[in-house]
Amino acid sequence: MQSLPRSVPNDGIERHDQVKTIFSEIAPRYDLLNHLLSLNMDRSWRRLAVDQIGWEAESSGSFLDACTGTFDLALELGDRPGFRGRIIATDFACPMMVQGARKIVAGPITPVCGDSLALPFPNDNFDGAMVGFGVRNLSDLECGLRELYRVLKRGKLLVVLEFALPPNPFVRMAYLLYFRRVLPVVGRIISGHPWAYRYLPESVEEFPGPDD
Ligand SMILES: C[S@@+](CC[C@H](N)C(=O)[O-])C[C@H]1O[C@@H](n2cnc3c(N)ncnc32)[C@H](O)[C@@H]1O
Repeated sequence: MQSLPRSVPNDGIERHDQVKTIFSEIAPRYDLLNHLLSLNMDRSWRRLAVDQIGWEAESSGSFLDACTGTFDLALELGDRPGFRGRIIATDFACPMMVQGARKIVAGPITPVCGDSLALPFPNDNFDGAMVGFGVRNLSDLECGLRELYRVLKRGKLLVVLEFALPPNPFVRMAYLLYFRRVLPVVGRIISGHPWAYRYLPESVEEFPGPDD
């Protein structure tokens, strides 16, 4: 594993490249750590996100899962009974998609290696788009949101699933304690990556909350 700086800049090409490197390096342990560190709650969060996208009105439509990682959000939609459409799943860290590839064999999901800041699709292309735990990693949030808007057909929905700090001060304290003290240690031991699981909570704390 190459040696990496201990913190990731907030924006710019350096952040872009470092985020790509981090996810490429933690890909083999990403799913395990996701389920473990969220106490398996990530599955129900994705379920709630897919509930919002309104696919039932376009059950044969074309949907985008940007920053797809190992495809869990795309699978949550693709496995819905009655879904007959297709899902294009993109990520710029190809090792994440390689890691998840066995989960999407013979399903409605097509993986496309691509950057969310320059999506390789024409305008007005999708009947819905979603991003799970991805937007806070973008090196240019506005550019990413503009791209997602560009590829959506008019009036169609973008669903963003993201972490936010709890508003209640006591819950927030417990949450931060877990995020700052427990998560980086467990993440380091299991992933073998020296600091990726410190970047992840830091990126949540830096990201604008729902009221910002
Ligand atoms: C925390 S993971 C989320 C993966 C998945 N959506 C999930 O629900 O588990 C964030 C993903 O965003 C991807 N990502 C970050 N910036 C990106 C960009 N500019 N273009 C494409 N993918 C990006 C990373 O490679 C990583 O796989």
